[in-house]
Amino acid sequence: MLKKSLTATLALFAVMLLITGCNSGTTADKQTAEPVPKDETDNQEKTEPANKQIQLPQEHLQKHENNDSVKMLQEVLNQVGYNIDLTGTYDEMTTWAITDYQIQQENLSVTGIYDDTTKDSLKNSLENGASLKSGEGIGKNSSDAAAINNPHEILALVNKDNALPEGFEPINLVVPDVQFPFEDFLPKKQMRQVAATAMEDMFAAADEAGLELYAQSGYRSYDRQDAIFAANVQQHGEEAANNFSARPGESEHQTGLTMDVTSPDVNFKLTVEFGETDEGKWLKEHAAEYGFIIRYPKGKEDTTQYQYEPWHLRYIGEKAATEIMEKGITLEEYLGEAS
Ligand code: DAL
Ligand code: ZN
Repeated sequence: MLKKSLTATLALFAVMLLITGCNSGTTADKQTAEPVPKDETDNQEKTEPANKQIQLPQEHLQKHENNDSVKMLQEVLNQVGYNIDLTGTYDEMTTWAITDYQIQQENLSVTGIYDDTTKDSLKNSLENGASLKSGEGIGKNSSDAAAINNPHEILALVNKDNALPEGFEPINLVVPDVQFPFEDFLPKKQMRQVAATAMEDMFAAADEAGLELYAQSGYRSYDRQDAIFAANVQQHGEEAANNFSARPGESEHQTGLTMDVTSPDVNFKLTVEFGETDEGKWLKEHAAEYGFIIRYPKGKEDTTQYQYEPWHLRYIGEKAATEIMEKGITLEEYLGEAS
């Protein structure tokens, strides 16, 4: 009995040495250290071998999933400086912590999703004994209770009931290397890096299939959307305008995860006829393979509260996009927030 507890104490000591002794010169070392929640480390090290400390889930994990791997991930997040309940559900708090962690690392896509690159980075953080400052990445959340709490995660729901915080600007906007029907740089050419890369892959595949996709309108700032909505209201009246044009703060274009696409067959217009073109049909079948959904599908107007827009593509990652497109549902339904 005594021997057993001595062994456990030595194991704990060895792990503490590993954690505190190897962190010089790392990026995370520059962060202010915060104490690791004591009860979790104690519990684990008394009952688990020391190398349990660096075990990470192997599979991709994301919002709403519930299993032992999520719980393992929550334990890992707590070891690097977060304080999450070990619920086993990839809840808002877990999504928030992964997003915050990703923002604090160089070279990680900010998605809120636990993927291979995030896994490798967390493994390094654990091995280096990193302790991050929780919330340092995302920063202060919006003071508006109605605003989306984590607008950086790629499954963020933006609609008439869930507005982006005023002044929200996405991180890592770039111009995707795809064709546009105009030459000059305009801010609307941009998307967040993670979506831009996926869009490039999708356009290359469409090109291989002999199709002519063009990107028309991506990122829009809050102020730009304000101006667009005001112009549409003037032309069509507020109710009609809000059927196809979002109020500022309520447009997915502000996330940098959306691109309106078109083709020469419809004279580069954003029109429902695009859905009947070869390009529109191909997108319906293949967009999910690249992580995109047709966000406002035909027949789902009551759920999305917008008219059918076969041109409006939203990036949410392959896993969720595949389920949504296969089941013929909306993002609201996928996230369990359809009204
Ligand atoms: N056309 C969509 C609804 C927007 O304005 O964001
Ligand atoms: Zn759009």
